[in-house]
Amino acid sequence: MTTSIQFIANPAARERGDKADTAFLSPEKAAVVRNYFKSFAEYTPTPLVALPGLSKKLGVSGVYVKDESKRMGLNAFKVLGCGFAIASVIAERLDIDISELTAEILRSEETKKKVGEITFISATDGNHGRGVAWAARQMGQKSVIYMPKGSSLIRLENIQAEGAEASITDMNYDDAVRLAWKQSQEKGWIMVQDTAWKGYEDIPAWIMQGYMTMAFEALEQLAAIKESAPTHVFLQAGVGSYAGGIQGFLATAFGENRPITTVVEPHKANCIYKSAEAGDGKPRFTTGDMDTLMAGLACGEPNIIGWDILRDYADGYISCPDWVAANGMRILGAPMPGDPQVISGESGAVTAGLLHLIMTRPELAHIREQLKIDSDSRVLLISTEGDTDPDIYRDITWFGNHTEKEKETC
Ligand SMILES: Cc1ncc(COP(=O)(O)O)c(C=O)c1O
Repeated sequence: MTTSIQFIANPAARERGDKADTAFLSPEKAAVVRNYFKSFAEYTPTPLVALPGLSKKLGVSGVYVKDESKRMGLNAFKVLGCGFAIASVIAERLDIDISELTAEILRSEETKKKVGEITFISATDGNHGRGVAWAARQMGQKSVIYMPKGSSLIRLENIQAEGAEASITDMNYDDAVRLAWKQSQEKGWIMVQDTAWKGYEDIPAWIMQGYMTMAFEALEQLAAIKESAPTHVFLQAGVGSYAGGIQGFLATAFGENRPITTVVEPHKANCIYKSAEAGDGKPRFTTGDMDTLMAGLACGEPNIIGWDILRDYADGYISCPDWVAANGMRILGAPMPGDPQVISGESGAVTAGLLHLIMTRPELAHIREQLKIDSDSRVLLISTEGDTDPDIYRDITWFGNHTEKEKETC
């Protein structure tokens, strides 16, 4: 059977030359971010789950899954980004260095008196909005969240449960971002958006710094079990803030010895893939409803900071159909004997589904060869969300929705 997985290799990633600056994504900064989160009682590093049974089946040395469903009770990684960005805004207003800010200071009455009433606004598929609402609530501040057309009701309710004024709009993600921006300008609210465009770069850069925590923790966790750094990392992308943040961190931390990285997107929202395919270094957009199963990845306009980093340092770009994510959910949810279970949602599981295909399908041999994945490889995957929509999760894992046979409709 053939699969409709599309792959672009980026050999230029390994060439020297003038490349995007990743200095703001340094291990030192990652330590500052992690220390900030450590000041919260809710913080604990998310598990790095070793899957020796799956590694054996796929013919690699190790598969490690960072399980972000366990992130601060929020079932997804996103609070790392917006939580750190909001902290950075507050540190600026308090005129202190971010390394001095703690949960206690953030939550204090004195801070509230100094910074006054703030409303944070954002547009989101769900996970980012829940993080923004959570962070705003920590400080007794307000949040307003716009969700794109077709967003899941349960994800909306989870944002509302954090105290946000949240609603589902009739527009796609990128238009919802524009609406939130307009509102923020008219009302004097602070927009905490997880993507950057020309003139809006500070907050997204802080968000990308926040996301480094996952790679920082994973390296510590590997070292603790006397395992070396991964040889390969697969990074799923919506706007590419998360992938760009981790990629930038790996480039700064390891230089030329960094792991081989691949950016993974759904066919229906593959703006990073399209940008790579265009080949002129400029970002490209995906438009329309982008009705992919991978709601967290349904973004059509790359973060310009993230794109520059992914363009210059990522080794490959992959666009794939929705059933690959569903396969990943099933693979992680019903593990090989002896392997622990990981509950992974649609946007979290796509890299696991993809790795399985790359390692088992003869027609994808060119991808494993170009990415140099073999029996010595240690692969890191980040399951960026748990079952953030439990009904969809069960439809897929219990009832087998979204299989390869349905590939024509993605
Ligand atoms: C679960 C999940 N994974 C990955 C991503 C992709 O992050 P980014 O939009 O920064 O590429 C998102 C974005 O919302 C998400 O919710």
